[in-house]
Amino acid sequence: MARVTRADLHGQGRAGLARPGSARGAALRQFVQNCPGPSWETVISFARHPPRRRPCPSEDVMSNTASSAGDKAGKAHWNQVWSNRSLPKPVDPHARGFRQYVRQAFHREFVRAFEGMDTKGQRLLEIGCGRSAWLPYLAREFGFQVSGLDYTEIGCAQERDILASAGIPGEIVCADLFEPPERFVGAFDAVVSLGVVEHFEDTAGCLRACARYLRPGGRIVTEIPNMRGLVGWVAKVTDRPTYDVHVPLDREALVKAHRDAGLHVLRSDYILPLDVSLFGVGSIGSRWLRLPAVGAASAVAELVWALDARGLAPRPNAVTSPYIFCVAEKS
Ligand SMILES: C[S@@+](CC[C@H](N)C(=O)[O-])C[C@H]1O[C@@H](n2cnc3c(N)ncnc32)[C@H](O)[C@@H]1O
Repeated sequence: MARVTRADLHGQGRAGLARPGSARGAALRQFVQNCPGPSWETVISFARHPPRRRPCPSEDVMSNTASSAGDKAGKAHWNQVWSNRSLPKPVDPHARGFRQYVRQAFHREFVRAFEGMDTKGQRLLEIGCGRSAWLPYLAREFGFQVSGLDYTEIGCAQERDILASAGIPGEIVCADLFEPPERFVGAFDAVVSLGVVEHFEDTAGCLRACARYLRPGGRIVTEIPNMRGLVGWVAKVTDRPTYDVHVPLDREALVKAHRDAGLHVLRSDYILPLDVSLFGVGSIGSRWLRLPAVGAASAVAELVWALDARGLAPRPNAVTSPYIFCVAEKS
């Protein structure tokens, strides 16, 4: 039985879930496009390619380093996740349509995160930047001079292509975050990681490593999926491989990990009332179950977003919210 891929949902693939040109197909494609990147892509990819625990020989050194910090996914896994993927369009928070909902919520968090900071011309590093749609956005919206670091060659190559096609200059370095290139240590005014730190057993250790890239007074923005809430419960039942490469953290645990890493926490919040795209329905094996499940998820998402736009959805909370942000400063 053919399984759905992101390309299928974009009308380019083999499963034919969303017929190009059909209204329903357009809605589904839009629904997928508007998910904030790492999580949707990762959920589908985990389901389609469960983590390979045996690294190829050239990956031995890096994998050993990472596993000493408790890397639950591993480089070989991410290499596989990023292979044969189409590149995402850079995030444009001003694009019209209420389906921009998730990206706009992230945009609001970034605006709050960099409040009071003169970001123009300052240096920002995205750690775990593989195939990220956010680096061009961070350059355009805030005037940051952007760089990225990731330990997968393919993720780095894709990120270079994303920046080049957006016409944004930026250096992408292929390295393990625990082994910073000398010239990157203390060199950045801001560090961002989206969906990275929750993959390490030692969250504070990972954050301490991320903070090494910051100058004193620099700001760090961390986003993770709320695997302690609904997203995690659903993944635990329907998609155990995805659940197993995460350390489930709530907001309090994330804040504590930042403090344990010696950082001064400025704010931390749950984001959005619900995001059903994280439930991984696109990866359900049977087409007959998958089609109604994706349709239902799309309908629920649209309903929640419409309610939220009218102030009628639940406030972001520990149970149903899909994401957690934390903003901190290095003293
Ligand atoms: C969930 S993905 C996030 C991708 C990107 N930030 C985005 O928003 O689309 C996590 C990324 O972190 C990278 N990563 C994980 N552990 C790493 C490490 N020890 N050093 C460098 N990169 C790492 C992976 O290769 C992967 O590209």
